[in-house]
Amino acid sequence: MGFAALALLVAAVLQVTWAEPVCPAPRPTGTTVWTAAHSSAAAAVARMSQQDKITIVTGTGWERGPCVGNTAPISSINYPELCLHDGPLGIRFGTGSTAFTPAIQAGSTWDVELIRQRGEYLGAEARGCGIHVLLGPVAGALGKIPHGGRNWEGFAADPYLSGIAMSETIDGIQSVGVQACAKHYIVNEQELNRETMSSNVDDRTMHELYLWPFADAVHANVASVMCSYNKINGSWACENDMAQNGLLKKELGFQGFIVSDWNAQHTTTGSANYGMDMTMPGTDFSGGNVLWGPQLNAAINNNQVSRARLDDMAKRILASWYLLGQDAPGYPPINIRANVQGNHKENVRAVARDGTVLLKNDGILPLSRPAKLALVGSAAVVDPQGMNSCVDKGCNRGALGMGWGSGSVNYPYFVAPYDALRARAQADGTTLSLHSSDSTGGVANAVSGADAAIVVITADSGEGYITVEGHPGDRLHLDPWHNGNQLVQAVAAANKNTIVVVHSVGPVILETILATPGVRAVVWGGLPSQENGNALVDILYGLVSPSGKLVYTIAKRPEDYGTVVVRGDDNFGEGLYIDYRHFDNAGIEPRFEFGFGLSYTNFTYSSLRTTTPSAIPSGPARGPTLPGGPSDLWDTVATVTATITNTGAVAGAEVAQLYLTLPASAPAAPPKQLRGFAKLKLEPGASGTATFKLRRRDLSYWDVGRQQWVVPAGTFGVRVGASSRDIRLTGSLQV
Ligand SMILES: *[C@@H]1O[C@H](CO)[C@@H](O)[C@H](O)[C@H]1NC(C)=O
Ligand SMILES: *[C@@H]1O[C@H](CO)[C@@H](O)[C@H](O)[C@H]1NC(C)=O
Repeated sequence: MGFAALALLVAAVLQVTWAEPVCPAPRPTGTTVWTAAHSSAAAAVARMSQQDKITIVTGTGWERGPCVGNTAPISSINYPELCLHDGPLGIRFGTGSTAFTPAIQAGSTWDVELIRQRGEYLGAEARGCGIHVLLGPVAGALGKIPHGGRNWEGFAADPYLSGIAMSETIDGIQSVGVQACAKHYIVNEQELNRETMSSNVDDRTMHELYLWPFADAVHANVASVMCSYNKINGSWACENDMAQNGLLKKELGFQGFIVSDWNAQHTTTGSANYGMDMTMPGTDFSGGNVLWGPQLNAAINNNQVSRARLDDMAKRILASWYLLGQDAPGYPPINIRANVQGNHKENVRAVARDGTVLLKNDGILPLSRPAKLALVGSAAVVDPQGMNSCVDKGCNRGALGMGWGSGSVNYPYFVAPYDALRARAQADGTTLSLHSSDSTGGVANAVSGADAAIVVITADSGEGYITVEGHPGDRLHLDPWHNGNQLVQAVAAANKNTIVVVHSVGPVILETILATPGVRAVVWGGLPSQENGNALVDILYGLVSPSGKLVYTIAKRPEDYGTVVVRGDDNFGEGLYIDYRHFDNAGIEPRFEFGFGLSYTNFTYSSLRTTTPSAIPSGPARGPTLPGGPSDLWDTVATVTATITNTGAVAGAEVAQLYLTLPASAPAAPPKQLRGFAKLKLEPGASGTATFKLRRRDLSYWDVGRQQWVVPAGTFGVRVGASSRDIRLTGSLQV
């Protein structure tokens, strides 16, 4: 059967319409920071043999090199053995590197400076280890399914916040001359059947939710993008013409290279013709099934893949290498085990602390020199079998700092709640007792008579190649693990001053805990990595006022999310309505809404102002395509300001958030969408100005008919508040 007939058949079966093929890959155009890199690359490619080109697009094979991905050197152009290595929170398999906080914790800080610094330190450690391409950051999964196993590797269940964090992280990594890799491209939202399922997503949802943070990544000149395991509309992500050639290379003007997720390639010619530029690891995980290398050579010699396409792959790979200045002499030798930690633990502690969200506090916090404290839970202490005893963190034993899978790293050290609390208790003369198990037997004795009882509970998830306590990557449920609800109930029955600490990869249903008399505070510690206990003590004792805000909704019931892990293909029927967009649209009251977080002080909001330097033209963005899309999409078209005042008694930081509502002339859209945020650190009594710069894209929807980003005419609703539901100021913007 010819391709066209096959395509029609597949389209008929899937009931989807296929877009016009975009193959062959559009070539980079326009003058950008990439121009010089691409001309160096073109000059190098002119000196390379066909075999040289095949060599740099084909990995050397699984576990046949110092890194998780490697290509062989090309001495004629001084091109090194290229090292591609995991991952998004540090150096996988490292022994001298920092275990940075997972991205979900960085997102929860809403602090662009900390996020940027985290990226810069990640880059510095990668460079110190001789890694050329660091495999992160993550914008897919975006987190539409709360159970999704790898959501914690990304920043937020919101494209805007995820996009800003992607951009800052990529800027940071690439500022020290390391190639970042935005992954997993795209609509890879669950672990179950990720290597066989198809994500069938409509065009508008693709643009406004899933592609959005990748556009930020491309705009930040990300060097590489990793295509994901799943299919999109029935064709593999790594050979999806529309996703790779159409959306990424043509529409977003991506100038770097697309690398396959490990063993996500399925065909020799499909992947080559439909946009993939590098195959990793070059074989399957048994060292066989080579799809490029000699096979690509044969396909080129048979005219199934053009020589121009091979040149384009090679140019893109080399351009990224030149862009980051990695051709300069002195790039460190590859050594994954190098000691590269520097002072980076300061960023880990700051992110762990400032990403902690205070969910409930009736006044028991902050603690002040209690005479007697009780600490409960297996998660209060370091894994008794060793902090790195489980391969790729594939267990939930002891204190939790990150989820499991290829995106996990070794801890260089681990400070558990008990370690940090013990030090503080000693300094204060507090008696601290410990019940380091999750069994309710004996817990009443352990906590009764203490001034307060702190109980630490967890929920974990990870990548689908490991199953932990029955959870196959994705979580099976949204309850705390290890009978956390019963443990809290047993503690609170014996101590009316119970403080619950939750270390979790994502939302947990808290209804039982919140309904338990005696639970006076809930501290959402998230995933604090190696500084787990220190960050917790900083918050519990008020060394710093809590300032994290939720980057996902905590529902009252799992059904309220409206999305679940699916068994077969996922038709993304919820469309634009994920997380708070869904709760708002369906009128469902969450327990704790997106953007929520308490502090030890109070903030007031006043003086909302909206200014536009000139009238904003409605209609489509029309600028030339630069990395990230039409240039004018990224222009600031309006500035909103608000005054935030700390009216409480202690210093603190507030994350002010701006949500926009599209005018009535736009097609149906979520009632409000995050389009700005600002974190202000304020002394008691002090005021500051939150400034939100709205870009043209922030006012646009994706017009499917026109295939353009369009600013609708009319009145935009402007809401500024302390969360997605705690709106303090309301205004409007006229287009
Ligand atoms: C997938 O199919 C939908 C429905 O026809 C279409 O709107 C969308 O653009 C397609 N996306 C891709 C990447 O093929
Ligand atoms: C914040 O304001 C609320 C309500 O106005 C008040 O009950 C609370 O005590 C204040 N908290 C602080 C820390 O000032």
